Amino acid sequence: MCGIVGYIGKRDAYPVLVKGLKRLEYRGYDSAGIALINHQDQLNVYKTKGRVSDLEHFVEDKDISGNIGIAHTRWATHGEPSQVNAHPHYSSSGNLALIHNGIIENYATLKERLQQKGITFRSNTDTEVLVQLIEYVQLSNNLDLLTALQLALHEVIGAYAIALLDKRQPDTILVARKSSPLVVGIGDDEFFMGSDATPIVEYTDKVVYLEDNEIAVVRRGQELKVVDLENVKMKPEIQTIEMNLGQLEKGGYPHFMLKEIFEQPDCINDCMRGRVNVESTNVALSAVIDHKDKLLNARRFIIVACGTSWHAGLIGKQLIESLCRIPVEVEYASEFRYRNPVISSEDVVIAISQSGETADTLAAVQLAKERGAFIYGICNVVGSSIARATNTGSYIHVGPEIGVASTKAFTGQVTVLTMLALALAKEKKTISDKEFLEIVQELNLVPAKMKQVLSKNQAISELSRIFTYAHNFLYLGRGYNYPVALEGALKLKEISYIHAEGYPAAEMKHGPIALIDTEMPVVVVATKNAMYEKIISNIQEIKARKGKVIALVSEGDTEIVSIADDCIEIPKIIECLEPLITTIPLQLLAYHIAVCKGKDVDQPRNLAKSVTVE
Ligand code: AGP
Repeated sequence: MCGIVGYIGKRDAYPVLVKGLKRLEYRGYDSAGIALINHQDQLNVYKTKGRVSDLEHFVEDKDISGNIGIAHTRWATHGEPSQVNAHPHYSSSGNLALIHNGIIENYATLKERLQQKGITFRSNTDTEVLVQLIEYVQLSNNLDLLTALQLALHEVIGAYAIALLDKRQPDTILVARKSSPLVVGIGDDEFFMGSDATPIVEYTDKVVYLEDNEIAVVRRGQELKVVDLENVKMKPEIQTIEMNLGQLEKGGYPHFMLKEIFEQPDCINDCMRGRVNVESTNVALSAVIDHKDKLLNARRFIIVACGTSWHAGLIGKQLIESLCRIPVEVEYASEFRYRNPVISSEDVVIAISQSGETADTLAAVQLAKERGAFIYGICNVVGSSIARATNTGSYIHVGPEIGVASTKAFTGQVTVLTMLALALAKEKKTISDKEFLEIVQELNLVPAKMKQVLSKNQAISELSRIFTYAHNFLYLGRGYNYPVALEGALKLKEISYIHAEGYPAAEMKHGPIALIDTEMPVVVVATKNAMYEKIISNIQEIKARKGKVIALVSEGDTEIVSIADDCIEIPKIIECLEPLITTIPLQLLAYHIAVCKGKDVDQPRNLAKSVTVE
């Protein structure tokens, strides 16, 4: 996720663009850049690592004049956050400048082809490949820019929203989209462009949302022209936006947390894109391809993490042990780093961290490294400290997570761990082709099944009202759903300040059962899997003590439905993938209870998004 802004009109472009970038900073904030064409038709490109305020500082003594420009705030996907990888990227001739959201999946092949033609690259980004490709197509066929862009986009596999500036056409910006949103705002003799309407809304409420494979030719003093990749003219549908700014940043959701919960189906698709191939039944993680021997010959895996990431690690343990038959230990990073652990060069340490900056996890990585272990990182923030400190790793690619309570990062981490287990199991031949195919096929259905669960949001919201009175909650689950119970309890604690504990369901009788009375809600993950009969007995034990049971049950369940007080139905999925689905209602339940109690959901008290201190 990155932010795009563009402007062409009679105003100075720079203030409009910078203000727009600030509004979009919630989408990404590791680097920022701007391209302006001044009144002498010179193209000035300025970019810097860091936030938009760093960019403002950087351009203090530079020429920022001009009435046309494009700007970008980046959330790195290819290449670490740095000045050279920041957008805009420009072509070899220096005529073209491009900003881009999305991922060009076949960038490596395209880059190799262009390198063979003698084109050199400055950055590690997929975006530079695209701008060089456009110029190459234009120059080698002597084409106008629009035609060159159409031909170049035909060669691209992946997702993009782009804005393209050509200093030889100082009155035009070309914008295009595929699977990544792009909006053009129509003002009075001026146009505004954005990756969403946030940077536009204060200037005009008339907007055109581009459709996939459409290109808008935005030209000063002319009507907006929209064509497709075949150059067929499209009729732009002008819409009136009714949302206010605050709502727009959150995509119309009242909180980032809810938005991020709802983003999960798309995030899981992004996370699997280019990695899971159902047709060829392949799971390709570059880290596994590049370090096959190290990973396959590991004596054991040690997962280190904190909080929600540690819960993802517990699921990873079950996946890797059952599919790959490699022993896995899961450690709190804060304990691991101080207890003189036994580690050798035959161990692989998997560090899981959304932010990539958690101090304890980073210290655990450093300790394991000093003792010779090979380190595999699973992070969200590209170029973060943990990502840089590891030997290899896989990003989860779920976009910036703003809500302090982690939601989409958790399901992203579990998805990467699932892909890792599948890729290793296939290499190790510890999984049959049939089982592998079955899991891969089901994995592809996860986004659709997540959507089914999200459609129950209203019902969960109504259910949550009954429970705002509670002072304590118990969350129970077994097998793959035991870490889900821990995660459900953590979410509730973090944002509603209700005390909640997660337990393996069978452990209840060894102590927590003493707490159960009519006041005690117990959330039980009770889907129809190998542990179904056992979990029914656990529910009976709670009901015998008059506890209130809220059960997550599989679609069509009648038995638990007849015993539990409230049930939330979950679509059926293969057991090892259940956490990706069962987590979602628990996120929603915590969210709605916290909202009912009037708590600050996105910034709960005493918590920070990235815990960079011990
Ligand atoms: C999750 O909701 C928490 N805010 C917290 O437990 C978090 O998961 C933990 O601090 C680890 O963060 P990391 O993934 O960025 O390392």
